[in-house]
Amino acid sequence: MEYTNIKVEVADYIMTLTINRPDKMNALNFATLEEIESAIKKAYADKEVKGVLITGTGEKAFVAGADISEIAGVKESAAYAFSKNGQRIFTSIENCPKPVVAAVNGYALGGGCELALACHIRLASDNAKFGLPEVTLGILPGYGGTQRLTKLVGKGKALEIMLTGSMVNAAEAKEIGLANDVLPAAELITKAKELLNRIFKNAPLAVARVIEAANAAYTESGFEAEAKAFEACCKSEDFKEGTTAFLEKRKANFKGV
Ligand code: COA
Repeated sequence: MEYTNIKVEVADYIMTLTINRPDKMNALNFATLEEIESAIKKAYADKEVKGVLITGTGEKAFVAGADISEIAGVKESAAYAFSKNGQRIFTSIENCPKPVVAAVNGYALGGGCELALACHIRLASDNAKFGLPEVTLGILPGYGGTQRLTKLVGKGKALEIMLTGSMVNAAEAKEIGLANDVLPAAELITKAKELLNRIFKNAPLAVARVIEAANAAYTESGFEAEAKAFEACCKSEDFKEGTTAFLEKRKANFKGV
């Protein structure tokens, strides 16, 4: 597959997958998601790849979310499939038998935070900001974020983050276990590669089994509930208002319908 929204480079057994839409804060449109899925499939199969590093182009954003201009156009009838598609692709990252490290180099919001959550380990630059601000758009995280954040940081913190829609800075992200470590931006990629190399020294089959066993903690019904809730939100007037307000660069006026 030809990539136009991501860059993929394989060197020293590491596949570096860089989300590459810097003018849109690396937001994930459908085409980008498709390219990510294709690259991850390649990572599963390619013997030259022992691990994956996911990051974003530029110094401002890892990924600032799913592309809101596309979300705004999601029809009620397609909302469930929209969520399931993202869930499937992010679950393929989480189930990758090779370690996947997110190098979070700036904003990791919405679908971007969900992408980082689907990775096995998250390293954050000191300017990183995490958040699931979907409620400010009239929706909820639909790519597995409600499940993965809750498992990772506990229900209380996860609900605080998701209900307020506020951003969590790098230091707080480390404190609550959302980021494994915080590093100066200039060292982020080198440290992420060092971490992968430490894992590569271990038995590949055992590494794959650890990932598999850790992922067994999830339940399918949680993801199903999330997709159904996403579909329900997409039927609301507030969803139209929230996404339109973002695109018109104004505050949303929610009515609860
Ligand atoms: N989807 C689509 N476009 C996005 C985007 C997203 N999730 N996030 C940013 N962009 C676009 C902006 O619309 C803008 O495009 P434009 O130059 O054509 O107007 C461009 O990226 C730069 O973003 P801008 O908002 O001007 O940068 P900023 O530095 O002022 O703010 C953010 C950065 C990340 C705080 C802000 O862009 C933001 O809040 N983004 C949306 C976050 C979000 O709600 N994500 C969840 C989506 S599910």
